[in-house]
Amino acid sequence: MSLSELECFLRPDVRFLTLSGHVGFDSLPEQLVNKRLARGFGFNILCVGETGIGKSTLMNTLFNTVFETEESSHFEGCVRLRPRTYDLQECGVRLRLTIVDAVGFGDQVAKDYRPIVDYVDAQFESYLQEELKLQRCLQDYRDTRVHACLYFITPTGHSLKSMDLVTMKKLDSKVNLIPVIAKADTLTRSELPKFKSRIMSELDQNGVRIYHFPTDDEAVAETNACMNALRPFAVVGATDLILVGSQLVRARLYPWGAVLVDNECHCDLAPLREMLIRVNMEDLREQTHGRHYELYRRQRLEQLGLRDTVVVLDSQPGAAADEARRREFLGEMRRKEKEMRQMFALRARETELEVKEKERELNDRFEELKRILQEERRKVEEKRRQLEEDINTFNRRRAAFEALQAMEAQTMQAAIVQPSPRRDRDRSRDRDRDQDQDRRN
Ligand code: GTP
Ligand code: MG
Repeated sequence: MSLSELECFLRPDVRFLTLSGHVGFDSLPEQLVNKRLARGFGFNILCVGETGIGKSTLMNTLFNTVFETEESSHFEGCVRLRPRTYDLQECGVRLRLTIVDAVGFGDQVAKDYRPIVDYVDAQFESYLQEELKLQRCLQDYRDTRVHACLYFITPTGHSLKSMDLVTMKKLDSKVNLIPVIAKADTLTRSELPKFKSRIMSELDQNGVRIYHFPTDDEAVAETNACMNALRPFAVVGATDLILVGSQLVRARLYPWGAVLVDNECHCDLAPLREMLIRVNMEDLREQTHGRHYELYRRQRLEQLGLRDTVVVLDSQPGAAADEARRREFLGEMRRKEKEMRQMFALRARETELEVKEKERELNDRFEELKRILQEERRKVEEKRRQLEEDINTFNRRRAAFEALQAMEAQTMQAAIVQPSPRRDRDRSRDRDRDQDQDRRN
């Protein structure tokens, strides 16, 4: 039975007819494609990961180009979101790509996720505002909602950090979360699978839902199922090209060899590109609109006091209905219990982060006070040394002055005790002159 015949069977009000000649509506898919091609496509990626983890390099590698980049400082006051939009073309298909960088993430320890969550919500809000306008223009609206969030995990080889779990949990209901192990060339062949499975089990235990490549479409079900097993993708970024045989390939060169980033034996970059861009870009956009935005929209409209009135008709009779309700209730209770456990674990981690942040602040304050104290001590010591030097100089001068005074006193005394021959001569000359004067008189 064909699809249309099946539909006719299910909906008796619709009748199935055959056409006796070509009408032309088989060109609808083509019309749709042409219209979409003319409008171009938009795709927005949010990159979250510690400063210097390799976000920009990976973006350059994924899209085989060089985007504008500038190194971020490890001393940013807070996390800030930096969106940059580029127009890309491939075989006549235009893609308006926006890459949003969470600058300063990982350097603030706690509450890093807040600006990121706020940014994602702000994009939903602006779409909602456009939707709620009387004269809305969604066709031309520049959609800035985040379609995919690449979360860069530090390749520690141990487990996820509390900050990673808390941030991912805060984001998982708002974006299609795709965790990747950054700089995977630092992990050995035996460490990588262990690290991957530890990450997946930690995400599962904490109820973090990451993007699941869809397996309901037959055309991509098999590929996506294989790719789902590869999560979290272990990626290596490189912008250098080297010649291997007769081909130029992207690679990271080391003193001991090279990592060919497009080689699947070396890392998962090629599968990630395949999944993110070639196979599931449209699904990521659909999920953003149909799942994450829908959730945001419902919550916002509920906040505004709007609610759908749903009338539930109970078709099951007596005991069976009771049993169904009881099972439903138990299921709901179990679900709520699980959610509460996960929430509790998350709160504990958040508190742990806050305590760590406070500890860091106290340590910083302590170090600052210590530094100020040392500086003050140094200044006091300097002043004491200066004062001692002044006292010594003064003492030396006083001793010299006293010595001089003593010498002068001695000279004076000597002058009084021993009559001076010159003064005697003067006196006899005065006497002779007086006698002459007397004689003349
Ligand atoms: P900010 O934007 O400043 O936060 O940095 P970023 O996360 O964009 O990192 P970026 O791409 O600038 O890379 C930082 C350094 O890591 C550079 O020296 C890169 O060459 C190096 N790097 C990038 N990717 C990899 C990788 O896969 N493996 C290794 N070993 N190094 C990498
Ligand atoms: Mg960067």
